[in-house]
Amino acid sequence: MFKKLNILDEKDPHLRKISKDANLPLSNEYKNTIERIIQELTYSQIEEYEKKYNLRPGMGLAFPQLGINERIIVIVHEYEEGKFKNYVVVNPKITSYSDEMIAAEAGEGCLSVNRDVEGHVKRHARVTVEGFDVDGNKIKFRAREELSIAFQHEIDHLNGILFYDRIDKNKPFYTENEIRLI
Ligand code: NI
Repeated sequence: MFKKLNILDEKDPHLRKISKDANLPLSNEYKNTIERIIQELTYSQIEEYEKKYNLRPGMGLAFPQLGINERIIVIVHEYEEGKFKNYVVVNPKITSYSDEMIAAEAGEGCLSVNRDVEGHVKRHARVTVEGFDVDGNKIKFRAREELSIAFQHEIDHLNGILFYDRIDKNKPFYTENEIRLI
């Protein structure tokens, strides 16, 4: 049976805290929570289930959005039509990044932000993320484009940052000459 997660709204103070490192290996409770997140994010990107369960499409979630201020992120990336790859990183760190910056042309969204916020969010085009899997093994991912944006967005949640904090209020939109829009 599918039961929707209780995702906190941006006004909840958990979203603004700096989260602490999670203890490894993760508890079975946390592992179960991660499985539920993966299922919900996957369903939210499949039209049939999105409608059936009234989900908002999203590709990432961080533990603080569930009221748990520990450094765990989950991303479900549709890398090809109908094909998904899951990324679960505990205590993630960006260990290198490109100088090149990009922004999602349509702006970013967040499952904790239940309104449209317009503007481009400047992100590194490529990042290397290192951390641990749920059992405490070291892992490392290289991400580019949309996936790179997702990692930066989710890691921001661990530091109490929401995507719109990074939108320049005086100049919310970039041109193609200023930044590569994807
Ligand atoms: Ni978010």
